[in-house]
Amino acid sequence: MSIDKINDLHSRLDKIAAAGGADRIEKQHKAGKLTARERINLLMDPDSFIELDAFVKHRCNEFGMEAVDAPAEGVVTGYGTVDGRLVYVYAQDFTVIGGSLGEMHAKKICKVLDLAMKMGAPVVGINDSGGARIQEGVDALSGYGNIFYRNTIASGVVPQISVIMGPCAGGAVYSPALTDFTFMVDKTSQMFITGPQVIKAVTGEEVTPEELGGAMTHNRTSGVAHFMSSDEKTCIEDIKRLLSFLPSNNLEAAPIFETDDDINRIEEELNTIVPDNPNKPYDMKDVIRAIVDNGDFMEVQEYYAQNIVTAYARINGASIGIIANQPKVLAGCLDINASDKAGRFIRTCDAFNIPILNLVDVPGFLPGTNQEYGGIIRHGAKMLYAYSEATVPKVTMIVRKAYGGAYLAMCSKDLGADMVFAWPSAEIAVMGPDGAANIIFKKDIEGAENPVQTRAEKIQEYKDKFATPYIAAQRGYVDLVIEPSESRPRLANAFEMLASKRESRPAKKHGNLPV
Ligand code: HXC
Repeated sequence: MSIDKINDLHSRLDKIAAAGGADRIEKQHKAGKLTARERINLLMDPDSFIELDAFVKHRCNEFGMEAVDAPAEGVVTGYGTVDGRLVYVYAQDFTVIGGSLGEMHAKKICKVLDLAMKMGAPVVGINDSGGARIQEGVDALSGYGNIFYRNTIASGVVPQISVIMGPCAGGAVYSPALTDFTFMVDKTSQMFITGPQVIKAVTGEEVTPEELGGAMTHNRTSGVAHFMSSDEKTCIEDIKRLLSFLPSNNLEAAPIFETDDDINRIEEELNTIVPDNPNKPYDMKDVIRAIVDNGDFMEVQEYYAQNIVTAYARINGASIGIIANQPKVLAGCLDINASDKAGRFIRTCDAFNIPILNLVDVPGFLPGTNQEYGGIIRHGAKMLYAYSEATVPKVTMIVRKAYGGAYLAMCSKDLGADMVFAWPSAEIAVMGPDGAANIIFKKDIEGAENPVQTRAEKIQEYKDKFATPYIAAQRGYVDLVIEPSESRPRLANAFEMLASKRESRPAKKHGNLPV
Protein backbone atom coordinates (compact mmCIF):
# COMPACT_ATOMS: atom_id res chain seq x y z
CA MET A 1 0.00 0.00 0.00
CA SER A 2 1.25 3.45 -0.76
CA ILE A 3 2.24 5.59 2.21
CA ASP A 4 -0.18 8.23 0.87
CA LYS A 5 -3.11 6.09 1.90
CA ILE A 6 -1.75 5.81 5.44
CA ASN A 7 -1.14 9.57 5.57
CA ASP A 8 -4.63 10.17 4.22
CA LEU A 9 -6.12 8.04 7.02
CA HIS A 10 -4.21 10.03 9.64
CA SER A 11 -5.14 13.38 8.20
CA ARG A 12 -8.81 12.33 8.16
CA LEU A 13 -8.60 11.19 11.80
CA ASP A 14 -6.81 14.40 12.81
CA LYS A 15 -9.56 16.46 11.23
CA ILE A 16 -12.18 14.50 13.16
CA ALA A 17 -10.23 14.84 16.41
CA ALA A 18 -10.10 18.62 15.90
CA ALA A 19 -13.89 18.57 16.37
CA GLY A 20 -15.55 21.98 15.94
CA GLY A 21 -12.21 23.81 15.82
CA ALA A 22 -9.97 25.69 18.21
CA ASP A 23 -12.33 28.65 18.71
CA ARG A 24 -15.30 26.56 19.70
CA ILE A 25 -13.12 24.37 21.94
CA GLU A 26 -11.82 27.48 23.67
CA LYS A 27 -15.39 28.70 24.17
CA GLN A 28 -16.26 25.32 25.69
CA HIS A 29 -13.30 25.50 28.10
CA LYS A 30 -14.09 29.11 29.04
CA ALA A 31 -17.59 27.97 30.01
CA GLY A 32 -16.01 25.55 32.53
CA LYS A 33 -16.69 22.57 30.28
CA LEU A 34 -14.42 19.91 28.82
CA THR A 35 -14.74 18.57 25.28
CA ALA A 36 -16.36 15.24 24.48
CA ARG A 37 -12.99 13.52 23.97
CA GLU A 38 -11.48 15.02 27.12
CA ARG A 39 -14.44 13.71 29.12
CA ILE A 40 -14.12 10.22 27.66
CA ASN A 41 -10.37 10.16 28.29
CA LEU A 42 -10.92 11.03 31.93
CA LEU A 43 -13.55 8.33 32.31
CA MET A 44 -11.80 5.44 30.60
CA ASP A 45 -8.67 3.61 31.73
CA PRO A 46 -5.62 5.04 29.90
CA ASP A 47 -5.35 3.91 26.26
CA SER A 48 -8.40 1.68 26.56
CA PHE A 49 -10.88 3.75 24.56
CA ILE A 50 -11.75 2.51 21.07
CA GLU A 51 -13.73 4.99 19.03
CA LEU A 52 -16.42 3.67 16.70
CA ASP A 53 -18.03 5.37 13.70
CA ALA A 54 -15.67 8.35 13.62
CA PHE A 55 -16.32 8.74 9.87
CA VAL A 56 -20.12 8.76 10.05
CA LYS A 57 -21.69 11.74 8.25
CA HIS A 58 -25.14 13.28 8.29
CA ARG A 59 -27.34 13.00 5.20
CA CYS A 60 -29.17 16.29 5.52
CA ASN A 61 -29.41 18.58 2.47
CA GLU A 62 -31.78 21.17 3.87
CA PHE A 63 -30.99 24.74 4.96
CA GLY A 64 -27.41 24.62 3.64
CA MET A 65 -26.56 21.52 5.64
CA GLU A 66 -25.01 19.85 2.59
CA ALA A 67 -22.04 22.21 3.06
CA VAL A 68 -21.75 21.60 6.80
CA ASP A 69 -18.98 19.26 7.85
CA ALA A 70 -19.71 17.75 11.24
CA PRO A 71 -16.70 15.82 12.59
CA ALA A 72 -17.80 12.50 14.13
CA GLU A 73 -21.40 13.71 13.53
CA GLY A 74 -21.32 15.64 16.80
CA VAL A 75 -21.05 12.62 19.06
CA VAL A 76 -18.03 10.53 20.07
CA THR A 77 -18.96 6.89 20.67
CA GLY A 78 -17.14 3.69 21.56
CA TYR A 79 -16.01 1.43 24.35
CA GLY A 80 -13.14 0.90 26.75
CA THR A 81 -12.58 -0.11 30.33
CA VAL A 82 -13.25 1.62 33.63
CA ASP A 83 -11.27 0.07 36.49
CA GLY A 84 -10.64 -2.87 34.18
CA ARG A 85 -14.29 -3.54 33.29
CA LEU A 86 -15.87 -3.08 29.85
CA VAL A 87 -17.99 0.09 29.57
CA TYR A 88 -19.67 1.67 26.52
CA VAL A 89 -19.77 5.41 26.19
CA TYR A 90 -21.13 8.21 24.07
CA ALA A 91 -20.37 11.89 24.50
CA GLN A 92 -22.14 14.60 22.54
CA ASP A 93 -19.77 17.22 21.17
CA PHE A 94 -21.15 20.71 21.69
CA THR A 95 -18.41 22.17 19.47
CA VAL A 96 -19.98 20.42 16.46
CA ILE A 97 -23.37 21.96 15.54
CA GLY A 98 -24.04 22.42 19.24
CA GLY A 99 -24.02 18.64 19.81
CA SER A 100 -27.44 18.64 18.13
CA LEU A 101 -28.95 15.24 17.44
CA GLY A 102 -29.79 14.21 13.89
CA GLU A 103 -30.52 10.87 12.22
CA MET A 104 -26.90 9.62 11.96
CA HIS A 105 -25.86 11.06 15.35
CA ALA A 106 -28.69 9.01 16.87
CA LYS A 107 -27.66 5.90 14.92
CA LYS A 108 -24.20 6.10 16.49
CA ILE A 109 -25.72 6.23 19.98
CA CYS A 110 -28.09 3.35 19.16
CA LYS A 111 -25.15 1.24 18.02
CA VAL A 112 -23.38 1.49 21.38
CA LEU A 113 -26.63 0.83 23.24
CA ASP A 114 -27.15 -2.33 21.15
CA LEU A 115 -23.57 -3.46 21.74
CA ALA A 116 -23.84 -2.81 25.47
CA MET A 117 -26.96 -4.95 25.70
CA LYS A 118 -25.36 -7.82 23.74
CA MET A 119 -22.14 -7.73 25.70
CA GLY A 120 -23.75 -7.05 29.08
CA ALA A 121 -21.81 -3.92 29.93
CA PRO A 122 -22.83 -0.54 31.40
CA VAL A 123 -23.39 2.51 29.19
CA VAL A 124 -22.40 6.03 30.15
CA GLY A 125 -24.10 8.70 28.02
CA ILE A 126 -22.70 12.22 28.27
CA ASN A 127 -25.26 14.82 27.15
CA ASP A 128 -24.21 18.28 25.98
CA SER A 129 -26.54 19.26 23.18
CA GLY A 130 -28.89 21.86 21.73
CA GLY A 131 -31.39 19.01 21.25
CA ALA A 132 -33.04 17.83 18.05
CA ARG A 133 -31.08 19.14 15.02
CA ILE A 134 -33.60 21.60 13.75
CA GLN A 135 -32.57 21.26 10.07
CA GLU A 136 -33.27 17.52 10.13
CA GLY A 137 -36.87 17.79 11.31
CA VAL A 138 -38.69 14.52 11.81
CA ASP A 139 -35.53 12.46 11.17
CA ALA A 140 -34.08 13.97 14.33
CA LEU A 141 -37.25 13.19 16.28
CA SER A 142 -37.10 9.62 15.01
CA GLY A 143 -33.50 9.45 16.23
CA TYR A 144 -34.62 10.33 19.75
CA GLY A 145 -37.43 7.78 19.52
CA ASN A 146 -34.93 5.06 18.65
CA ILE A 147 -32.80 5.98 21.65
CA PHE A 148 -35.78 6.04 24.04
CA TYR A 149 -36.84 2.61 22.78
CA ARG A 150 -33.38 1.14 23.43
CA ASN A 151 -33.07 2.83 26.84
CA THR A 152 -36.29 1.09 27.78
CA ILE A 153 -35.32 -2.33 26.41
CA ALA A 154 -31.91 -2.09 28.12
CA SER A 155 -33.54 -1.06 31.43
CA GLY A 156 -32.82 -3.73 34.03
CA VAL A 157 -30.35 -5.47 31.70
CA VAL A 158 -27.29 -3.21 31.91
CA PRO A 159 -26.72 -0.17 34.13
CA GLN A 160 -27.37 3.02 32.15
CA ILE A 161 -25.84 6.21 33.46
CA SER A 162 -26.73 9.62 32.05
CA VAL A 163 -24.45 12.56 32.57
CA ILE A 164 -25.60 16.11 31.90
CA MET A 165 -22.66 18.38 31.12
CA GLY A 166 -24.35 21.23 29.28
CA PRO A 167 -27.82 21.87 27.91
CA CYS A 168 -30.35 19.03 27.69
CA ALA A 169 -33.67 20.47 26.58
CA GLY A 170 -37.03 19.51 25.16
CA GLY A 171 -37.83 15.84 24.66
CA ALA A 172 -34.09 15.13 24.86
CA VAL A 173 -34.47 15.00 28.64
CA TYR A 174 -36.37 11.74 28.36
CA SER A 175 -33.37 9.61 27.57
CA PRO A 176 -31.77 10.46 30.95
CA ALA A 177 -35.15 10.01 32.60
CA LEU A 178 -35.40 6.48 31.20
CA THR A 179 -31.95 5.47 32.44
CA ASP A 180 -30.93 4.34 35.93
CA PHE A 181 -28.91 7.30 37.16
CA THR A 182 -28.52 10.96 36.17
CA PHE A 183 -25.47 13.00 37.12
CA MET A 184 -25.44 16.80 36.84
CA VAL A 185 -22.64 19.32 37.22
CA ASP A 186 -23.31 22.40 39.32
CA LYS A 187 -23.81 25.63 37.29
CA THR A 188 -22.89 24.15 33.87
CA SER A 189 -25.73 21.71 33.19
CA GLN A 190 -29.42 22.30 32.64
CA MET A 191 -32.41 20.11 31.90
CA PHE A 192 -35.89 21.30 31.01
CA ILE A 193 -38.79 20.36 28.78
CA THR A 194 -39.54 23.98 27.91
CA GLY A 195 -36.99 26.70 28.43
CA PRO A 196 -37.34 30.08 30.20
CA GLN A 197 -38.43 31.94 27.04
CA VAL A 198 -41.30 29.59 26.29
CA ILE A 199 -42.38 29.62 29.92
CA LYS A 200 -42.43 33.43 29.92
CA ALA A 201 -44.51 33.50 26.73
CA VAL A 202 -47.02 30.92 27.94
CA THR A 203 -47.38 31.54 31.67
CA GLY A 204 -45.68 34.90 32.20
CA GLU A 205 -43.33 33.36 34.79
CA GLU A 206 -39.77 34.67 34.77
CA VAL A 207 -37.07 32.19 35.70
CA THR A 208 -33.38 31.80 34.92
CA PRO A 209 -32.16 28.62 33.17
CA GLU A 210 -30.24 27.68 36.34
CA GLU A 211 -33.27 28.12 38.61
CA LEU A 212 -35.45 26.26 36.17
CA GLY A 213 -33.29 23.28 35.40
CA GLY A 214 -29.87 23.54 37.04
CA ALA A 215 -28.18 20.77 39.00
CA MET A 216 -29.48 21.88 42.40
CA THR A 217 -33.04 22.22 41.10
CA HIS A 218 -33.08 18.64 39.84
CA ASN A 219 -31.20 17.22 42.81
CA ARG A 220 -33.18 18.97 45.54
CA THR A 221 -36.57 19.93 44.12
CA SER A 222 -37.64 17.72 41.23
CA GLY A 223 -35.77 14.52 42.05
CA VAL A 224 -34.92 14.10 38.36
CA ALA A 225 -31.18 13.88 39.04
CA HIS A 226 -29.46 11.48 41.42
CA PHE A 227 -26.05 13.09 41.85
CA MET A 228 -24.59 16.60 41.74
CA SER A 229 -20.88 17.28 41.30
CA SER A 230 -19.02 20.55 41.73
CA ASP A 231 -17.15 20.26 38.41
CA GLU A 232 -16.71 17.86 35.50
CA LYS A 233 -13.60 16.11 36.80
CA THR A 234 -15.28 15.40 40.14
CA CYS A 235 -18.34 14.20 38.26
CA ILE A 236 -16.31 11.64 36.31
CA GLU A 237 -14.74 10.39 39.56
CA ASP A 238 -18.25 10.09 41.04
CA ILE A 239 -19.39 8.04 38.01
CA LYS A 240 -16.46 5.64 38.46
CA ARG A 241 -17.29 5.31 42.14
CA LEU A 242 -20.91 4.48 41.34
CA LEU A 243 -19.85 1.89 38.75
CA SER A 244 -17.70 0.19 41.42
CA PHE A 245 -20.87 -0.67 43.38
CA LEU A 246 -22.71 -2.09 40.34
CA PRO A 247 -22.42 -5.33 38.40
CA SER A 248 -21.88 -5.10 34.65
CA ASN A 249 -25.32 -6.56 33.95
CA ASN A 250 -28.37 -8.24 35.50
CA LEU A 251 -26.83 -11.72 35.37
CA GLU A 252 -23.75 -10.83 37.38
CA ALA A 253 -22.98 -9.81 40.94
CA ALA A 254 -21.24 -6.54 41.79
CA PRO A 255 -17.46 -6.78 42.16
CA ILE A 256 -16.14 -7.66 45.61
CA PHE A 257 -13.46 -5.43 47.10
CA GLU A 258 -11.12 -6.74 49.74
CA THR A 259 -11.57 -4.84 52.98
CA ASP A 260 -9.28 -4.29 55.94
CA ASP A 261 -12.27 -3.42 58.13
CA ASP A 262 -12.90 -6.21 60.66
CA ILE A 263 -16.32 -7.79 60.09
CA ASN A 264 -16.46 -8.54 63.81
CA ARG A 265 -15.99 -4.88 64.71
CA ILE A 266 -18.09 -3.95 67.77
CA GLU A 267 -19.34 -0.35 67.91
CA GLU A 268 -20.16 0.56 71.53
CA GLU A 269 -21.41 4.00 70.43
CA LEU A 270 -24.43 2.33 68.80
CA ASN A 271 -25.68 1.24 72.24
CA THR A 272 -26.29 4.88 73.16
CA ILE A 273 -27.10 6.46 69.80
CA VAL A 274 -30.89 6.19 70.20
CA PRO A 275 -32.00 8.88 72.69
CA ASP A 276 -34.27 7.89 75.62
CA ASN A 277 -36.76 10.55 74.55
CA PRO A 278 -38.60 9.03 71.56
CA ASN A 279 -39.16 12.48 70.04
CA LYS A 280 -35.48 13.34 70.00
CA PRO A 281 -33.77 12.88 66.65
CA TYR A 282 -30.35 11.47 65.86
CA ASP A 283 -28.50 11.11 62.59
CA MET A 284 -29.20 7.77 60.90
CA LYS A 285 -26.08 8.34 58.79
CA ASP A 286 -24.03 7.79 61.98
CA VAL A 287 -25.60 4.33 62.22
CA ILE A 288 -24.77 3.62 58.57
CA ARG A 289 -21.18 4.83 59.05
CA ALA A 290 -20.70 2.57 62.07
CA ILE A 291 -21.92 -0.52 60.23
CA VAL A 292 -20.45 -0.44 56.71
CA ASP A 293 -16.87 -1.10 55.59
CA ASN A 294 -14.62 1.79 56.58
CA GLY A 295 -17.66 3.99 57.20
CA ASP A 296 -17.80 4.59 53.45
CA PHE A 297 -21.11 4.98 51.59
CA MET A 298 -22.33 6.75 48.45
CA GLU A 299 -25.67 8.46 48.78
CA VAL A 300 -28.13 8.40 45.88
CA GLN A 301 -30.44 11.44 45.69
CA GLU A 302 -28.67 12.96 48.69
CA TYR A 303 -30.53 16.27 48.46
CA TYR A 304 -34.02 14.95 47.64
CA ALA A 305 -36.56 13.69 50.21
CA GLN A 306 -33.94 13.74 52.95
CA ASN A 307 -36.37 12.01 55.33
CA ILE A 308 -35.17 8.79 53.72
CA VAL A 309 -31.55 7.92 52.96
CA THR A 310 -30.70 5.71 49.99
CA ALA A 311 -27.07 4.71 49.57
CA TYR A 312 -24.64 2.13 48.26
CA ALA A 313 -22.02 0.75 50.62
CA ARG A 314 -20.16 -2.49 51.26
CA ILE A 315 -20.20 -5.01 54.06
CA ASN A 316 -17.32 -7.48 54.01
CA GLY A 317 -16.37 -6.11 50.58
CA ALA A 318 -19.72 -6.84 48.91
CA SER A 319 -22.11 -4.14 47.66
CA ILE A 320 -25.37 -3.50 49.47
CA GLY A 321 -28.11 -0.93 48.93
CA ILE A 322 -29.30 0.83 52.09
CA ILE A 323 -32.74 2.32 52.61
CA ALA A 324 -32.89 4.15 55.94
CA ASN A 325 -35.40 6.45 57.62
CA GLN A 326 -33.78 9.69 58.73
CA PRO A 327 -35.23 10.83 62.09
CA LYS A 328 -33.49 14.21 61.64
CA VAL A 329 -35.82 15.21 58.79
CA LEU A 330 -39.62 15.19 59.16
CA ALA A 331 -39.04 12.74 62.04
CA GLY A 332 -38.30 10.13 59.38
CA CYS A 333 -41.93 10.02 58.14
CA LEU A 334 -42.63 8.51 54.76
CA ASP A 335 -44.15 10.98 52.30
CA ILE A 336 -44.75 11.06 48.55
CA ASN A 337 -41.21 12.00 47.60
CA ALA A 338 -39.56 9.57 50.03
CA SER A 339 -41.74 6.75 48.68
CA ASP A 340 -40.80 7.55 45.09
CA LYS A 341 -37.12 7.80 45.99
CA ALA A 342 -37.06 4.55 47.94
CA GLY A 343 -39.31 2.63 45.52
CA ARG A 344 -37.05 3.43 42.60
CA PHE A 345 -33.88 2.63 44.56
CA ILE A 346 -35.21 -0.75 45.72
CA ARG A 347 -36.04 -1.71 42.12
CA THR A 348 -32.60 -0.62 40.91
CA CYS A 349 -30.96 -2.79 43.58
CA ASP A 350 -33.18 -5.74 42.73
CA ALA A 351 -32.61 -5.41 38.98
CA PHE A 352 -28.85 -5.52 39.52
CA ASN A 353 -28.59 -8.20 42.22
CA ILE A 354 -27.59 -5.84 45.01
CA PRO A 355 -28.75 -7.07 48.46
CA ILE A 356 -30.82 -4.61 50.44
CA LEU A 357 -30.45 -3.41 54.04
CA ASN A 358 -33.36 -1.51 55.60
CA LEU A 359 -32.73 0.60 58.70
CA VAL A 360 -36.07 1.41 60.27
CA ASP A 361 -37.10 4.31 62.49
CA VAL A 362 -40.40 5.41 61.04
CA PRO A 363 -43.30 7.02 62.92
CA GLY A 364 -45.70 6.60 59.98
CA PHE A 365 -46.82 8.22 56.76
CA LEU A 366 -46.83 12.03 56.80
CA PRO A 367 -50.39 13.25 57.50
CA GLY A 368 -52.02 16.15 55.63
CA THR A 369 -54.24 17.15 52.75
CA ASN A 370 -51.21 17.89 50.56
CA GLN A 371 -50.09 14.33 50.89
CA GLU A 372 -53.54 12.81 50.40
CA TYR A 373 -54.39 15.01 47.39
CA GLY A 374 -50.95 14.34 45.96
CA GLY A 375 -51.67 10.63 46.02
CA ILE A 376 -49.64 9.31 48.96
CA ILE A 377 -51.75 6.15 48.66
CA ARG A 378 -50.44 5.26 45.20
CA HIS A 379 -46.94 6.62 45.89
CA GLY A 380 -46.58 4.79 49.20
CA ALA A 381 -47.76 1.63 47.44
CA LYS A 382 -44.59 1.75 45.34
CA MET A 383 -42.52 0.79 48.38
CA LEU A 384 -44.80 -2.13 49.26
CA TYR A 385 -44.69 -3.23 45.63
CA ALA A 386 -40.95 -2.83 45.19
CA TYR A 387 -40.07 -4.71 48.38
CA SER A 388 -42.55 -7.52 47.71
CA GLU A 389 -41.33 -7.90 44.14
CA ALA A 390 -37.62 -7.85 45.04
CA THR A 391 -35.93 -11.25 45.22
CA VAL A 392 -32.46 -10.10 46.29
CA PRO A 393 -31.49 -10.77 49.92
CA LYS A 394 -33.48 -8.38 52.10
CA VAL A 395 -32.36 -7.64 55.66
CA THR A 396 -34.30 -5.32 57.94
CA MET A 397 -32.96 -3.83 61.15
CA ILE A 398 -35.52 -2.04 63.33
CA VAL A 399 -33.69 0.64 65.27
CA ARG A 400 -36.56 2.45 66.95
CA LYS A 401 -40.08 3.24 65.69
CA ALA A 402 -41.84 0.90 63.29
CA TYR A 403 -45.47 1.93 63.27
CA GLY A 404 -48.43 0.90 61.20
CA GLY A 405 -48.35 0.79 57.41
CA ALA A 406 -44.93 2.40 57.44
CA TYR A 407 -43.59 -0.61 59.39
CA LEU A 408 -44.72 -2.80 56.51
CA ALA A 409 -43.52 -0.30 53.88
CA MET A 410 -39.99 -0.49 55.30
CA CYS A 411 -39.87 -4.22 54.47
CA SER A 412 -41.30 -6.18 57.35
CA LYS A 413 -41.10 -9.98 57.47
CA ASP A 414 -44.43 -10.17 55.63
CA LEU A 415 -43.05 -8.37 52.57
CA GLY A 416 -40.31 -10.93 52.28
CA ALA A 417 -37.53 -9.71 54.56
CA ASP A 418 -35.23 -12.70 54.88
CA MET A 419 -33.83 -11.60 58.23
CA VAL A 420 -35.34 -9.07 60.62
CA PHE A 421 -33.18 -7.76 63.43
CA ALA A 422 -34.43 -5.45 66.15
CA TRP A 423 -32.56 -3.41 68.69
CA PRO A 424 -34.01 -3.41 72.24
CA SER A 425 -35.06 0.19 71.53
CA ALA A 426 -37.45 -1.00 68.78
CA GLU A 427 -41.11 -0.06 69.11
CA ILE A 428 -43.22 -2.16 66.78
CA ALA A 429 -46.91 -1.32 66.94
CA VAL A 430 -49.95 -0.20 64.99
CA MET A 431 -49.35 3.39 66.04
CA GLY A 432 -47.37 5.53 68.50
CA PRO A 433 -48.25 5.14 72.23
CA ASP A 434 -49.89 8.61 72.50
CA GLY A 435 -52.30 8.06 69.64
CA ALA A 436 -52.99 4.47 70.63
CA ALA A 437 -53.80 5.36 74.26
CA ASN A 438 -56.16 8.15 73.13
CA ILE A 439 -58.19 5.64 71.14
CA ILE A 440 -58.24 2.41 73.12
CA PHE A 441 -58.36 4.04 76.57
CA LYS A 442 -60.66 6.93 75.54
CA LYS A 443 -63.43 6.03 78.01
CA ASP A 444 -60.99 5.39 80.90
CA ILE A 445 -59.35 8.78 80.32
CA GLU A 446 -62.58 10.75 79.91
CA GLY A 447 -64.17 9.15 82.99
CA ALA A 448 -61.12 9.57 85.20
CA GLU A 449 -60.89 11.99 88.11
CA ASN A 450 -57.57 13.21 86.83
CA PRO A 451 -57.66 12.69 83.01
CA VAL A 452 -54.15 14.06 82.48
CA GLN A 453 -52.61 11.64 84.95
CA THR A 454 -54.71 8.72 83.72
CA ARG A 455 -53.74 9.47 80.16
CA ALA A 456 -50.05 9.48 81.10
CA GLU A 457 -50.49 6.17 82.94
CA LYS A 458 -52.30 4.58 80.02
CA ILE A 459 -49.62 5.74 77.57
CA GLN A 460 -46.98 4.18 79.81
CA GLU A 461 -49.03 0.98 80.09
CA TYR A 462 -49.25 0.77 76.29
CA LYS A 463 -45.54 1.55 75.91
CA ASP A 464 -44.49 -1.15 78.38
CA LYS A 465 -46.62 -3.74 76.66
CA PHE A 466 -46.37 -2.93 72.96
CA ALA A 467 -43.62 -0.39 72.30
CA THR A 468 -40.91 -3.06 72.42
CA PRO A 469 -39.54 -5.60 69.98
CA TYR A 470 -40.61 -8.57 72.12
CA ILE A 471 -44.21 -9.09 71.01
CA ALA A 472 -43.07 -9.08 67.37
CA ALA A 473 -40.24 -11.44 68.34
CA GLN A 474 -42.71 -13.77 70.10
CA ARG A 475 -44.62 -14.12 66.84
CA GLY A 476 -41.46 -14.57 64.75
CA TYR A 477 -41.86 -11.27 62.87
CA VAL A 478 -38.46 -10.39 64.34
CA ASP A 479 -35.81 -13.11 64.03
CA LEU A 480 -33.29 -11.73 66.50
CA VAL A 481 -33.18 -8.98 69.08
CA ILE A 482 -29.56 -7.85 69.21
CA GLU A 483 -27.34 -5.48 71.09
CA PRO A 484 -26.86 -2.45 68.79
CA SER A 485 -23.07 -2.57 69.20
CA GLU A 486 -22.94 -5.95 67.43
CA SER A 487 -24.90 -4.79 64.36
CA ARG A 488 -21.97 -5.03 61.93
CA PRO A 489 -21.01 -8.65 62.68
CA ARG A 490 -24.66 -9.70 62.76
CA LEU A 491 -25.40 -8.06 59.41
CA ALA A 492 -22.21 -9.37 57.82
CA ASN A 493 -23.20 -12.85 58.94
CA ALA A 494 -26.76 -12.44 57.62
CA PHE A 495 -25.64 -11.26 54.17
CA GLU A 496 -23.12 -14.09 53.99
CA MET A 497 -25.82 -16.63 54.90
CA LEU A 498 -28.14 -15.11 52.27
CA ALA A 499 -25.58 -15.02 49.47
CA SER A 500 -26.97 -18.19 47.92
CA LYS A 501 -30.59 -17.02 48.08
CA ARG A 502 -32.74 -18.17 45.16
CA GLU A 503 -36.32 -17.02 44.89
CA SER A 504 -38.53 -16.91 41.82
CA ARG A 505 -41.84 -15.30 40.99
CA PRO A 506 -44.73 -16.55 38.82
CA ALA A 507 -44.16 -16.04 35.09
CA LYS A 508 -45.90 -12.94 33.76
CA LYS A 509 -45.45 -10.31 31.08
CA HIS A 510 -44.71 -7.68 33.70
CA GLY A 511 -46.25 -6.45 36.91
CA ASN A 512 -48.28 -3.27 37.17
CA LEU A 513 -46.27 -0.97 39.43
CA PRO A 514 -48.43 1.78 40.94
CA VAL A 515 -47.19 5.07 39.43
C1 HXC B 1 -29.16 22.79 15.06
C2 HXC B 1 -28.08 23.91 16.74
C3 HXC B 1 -29.06 23.49 17.68
C4 HXC B 1 -30.14 22.67 17.19
C5 HXC B 1 -27.62 24.67 18.74
N1 HXC B 1 -27.22 24.64 17.44
N2 HXC B 1 -28.76 23.99 18.89
N3 HXC B 1 -28.14 23.56 15.46
N4 HXC B 1 -30.14 22.35 15.88
N5 HXC B 1 -31.10 22.22 18.02
C6 HXC B 1 -26.02 25.25 16.89
C7 HXC B 1 -26.09 26.76 16.84
O1 HXC B 1 -26.72 27.17 15.64
C8 HXC B 1 -24.61 27.13 16.85
O2 HXC B 1 -24.08 26.92 15.57
C9 HXC B 1 -24.02 26.07 17.74
O3 HXC B 1 -24.95 24.99 17.75
C10 HXC B 1 -23.83 26.54 19.16
O4 HXC B 1 -25.03 27.12 19.60
P1 HXC B 1 -25.10 28.58 20.24
O5 HXC B 1 -26.52 28.99 20.24
O6 HXC B 1 -24.10 29.47 19.62
O7 HXC B 1 -24.60 28.26 21.73
P2 HXC B 1 -25.08 28.89 23.09
O8 HXC B 1 -25.17 30.37 22.98
O9 HXC B 1 -24.19 28.30 24.13
O10 HXC B 1 -26.58 28.34 23.32
C11 HXC B 1 -26.82 26.97 23.45
C12 HXC B 1 -28.33 26.67 23.39
C13 HXC B 1 -28.92 27.28 22.08
C14 HXC B 1 -29.01 27.25 24.64
C15 HXC B 1 -28.48 25.15 23.43
O11 HXC B 1 -28.12 26.88 20.99
C16 HXC B 1 -30.32 26.84 21.84
O12 HXC B 1 -31.28 27.36 22.45
N6 HXC B 1 -30.49 25.90 20.92
C17 HXC B 1 -31.77 25.41 20.51
C18 HXC B 1 -32.36 24.59 21.60
C19 HXC B 1 -33.66 23.99 21.15
O13 HXC B 1 -34.70 24.65 21.19
N7 HXC B 1 -33.56 22.75 20.68
C20 HXC B 1 -34.70 22.03 20.25
C21 HXC B 1 -35.28 21.45 21.52
S1 HXC B 1 -36.66 20.50 21.13
P3 HXC B 1 -22.83 27.78 15.05
O14 HXC B 1 -22.63 27.31 13.65
O15 HXC B 1 -23.26 29.21 15.11
O16 HXC B 1 -21.67 27.48 15.95
C22 HXC B 1 -36.03 19.00 21.04
C23 HXC B 1 -37.06 18.01 20.72
C24 HXC B 1 -36.57 16.65 21.01
O17 HXC B 1 -34.91 18.76 21.18
C25 HXC B 1 -37.76 15.78 20.90
C26 HXC B 1 -37.45 14.41 21.29
C27 HXC B 1 -38.70 13.60 21.35
